[in-house]
Amino acid sequence: MRFLLALTAAGAALAASNPKSVTYYKDVLPVLQKNCQTCHRPGEAAPMAFLTYEQTRPWAKAIKASVLGKQMPPWFADAAHGKWANDRTLSADEIATLSSWADNGAKEGNKKDAPAPVTFVQGWGIGKPDLVLEMPESYSVPDSGTIEYQYIIIPTGLKEDKWIQMAEARPGNRQTVHHIIAFVREPGSKWFADQKPGVAFSPKTMASNGQRQGGNDEASREFLVGFAPGSPPEVLRPGTAKLLKAGSDLVLQMHYTATGKAGTDKSAIGLVFAKDAVEKRVFTSAVTTNKFVIPAGASSHDVKASMTLQEDADLVSLLPHMHLRGKAFEYRAVYPTGETEVLLKVPAYRFDWQLWYEFASPKRIPKGTRLEVTGTFDNSANNRFNPDATKDVKWGEQSWEEMMMGFFDVAFDAKKDPMDLFRPKKRTGTDD
Ligand code: HEC
Repeated sequence: MRFLLALTAAGAALAASNPKSVTYYKDVLPVLQKNCQTCHRPGEAAPMAFLTYEQTRPWAKAIKASVLGKQMPPWFADAAHGKWANDRTLSADEIATLSSWADNGAKEGNKKDAPAPVTFVQGWGIGKPDLVLEMPESYSVPDSGTIEYQYIIIPTGLKEDKWIQMAEARPGNRQTVHHIIAFVREPGSKWFADQKPGVAFSPKTMASNGQRQGGNDEASREFLVGFAPGSPPEVLRPGTAKLLKAGSDLVLQMHYTATGKAGTDKSAIGLVFAKDAVEKRVFTSAVTTNKFVIPAGASSHDVKASMTLQEDADLVSLLPHMHLRGKAFEYRAVYPTGETEVLLKVPAYRFDWQLWYEFASPKRIPKGTRLEVTGTFDNSANNRFNPDATKDVKWGEQSWEEMMMGFFDVAFDAKKDPMDLFRPKKRTGTDD
């Protein structure tokens, strides 16, 4: 069996039969190009680049430890459930190659053996955007204290409807930007209708000062794209796209965290328009609840929510979201036949990796299917990320409070109103 496996991948087979011959150019670089360089290059998520031998060599031992320990590349889905288009799991051969390289002197080898370098578009993971919408002014991030979510309205200036094939939220300053969510606000929406475009404001601060904010109007806003550590850009399949109506605004929700040093940020959203005809509109929603209390000290507390889809749809991808006490997450589909299927299981949830899990092929969800999610929380002192194990924890925006959100993308007949999926007209939520 081992022999057969070894025959399938020539490079890795060599590495396995003669580990001493493993070199950077011949064996290691191809693995790094395919699995690591999207993040391990200048300006991206990882703090160090793995583009050259000189950059990679000092990390050889750490690379071995991180791939053997499955910390790298970041990927947390239980392989027993679901097949994923963006699965980052390394093959056994790839892990063996990186380990034997570290064990045998991390040799450079011959440059002539190197594969051609991968060309990345600097600054964007989606290639060159058709439209970039940037914060008109920089936001000044204080050096300390709690920073409430800031909102910034950016008019799109679009004169006609546009289908969005790819979207990327790009932090201006990765040190302080904890997350970005770009919402679409349809023309005529009352959501934050009193606020001036381009100027950052905080609904929470305004509420505590008794100021007017404009209506909530949840039905007139839509999640377009987000940024959080490890989250890739939104890249939709040909024939499917998100809709940006003429005259819409983007509303950015910015979560900044103070780092001890004051700084500024000017984040931007990049959009690539669809070039093909669009048959299905993609829409982001979430199965969620804010009615929960996680008792102080509880090491495994489940919070559940569910939502029934009212029309046939294709599930495209899933993103579990909890905060520092998040421990595990599961999505299930309960079909109209009564059958239950586990769609995604994340046994060891990590707050610092907000990952979308994209189905290898979209999952058919017949009308009347109930989507169920369970978030499991560890509020005990054994959770090393727990800011305070002596407090009961409720829903809240800050990382020391909690959330339980099962985000999902669905694709739905582009000619229909996606709101029909969620009767009564509410875009996120729970059945009860
Ligand atoms: C999605 C982005 C992403 C991908 C893909 C990725 N990394 Fe990382 N890597 C990071 C980030 C961010 C950090 C720093 C934070 C951390 O350690 O969690 C990191 C840290 C590391 C570290 C340092 C760990 C330590 O001991 O401090 C190593 C080694 C590493 N990565 C190796 C790899 C290898 C090898 C691959 C490919 C097989 C890879 N990474 C793929 C984002 C990524």
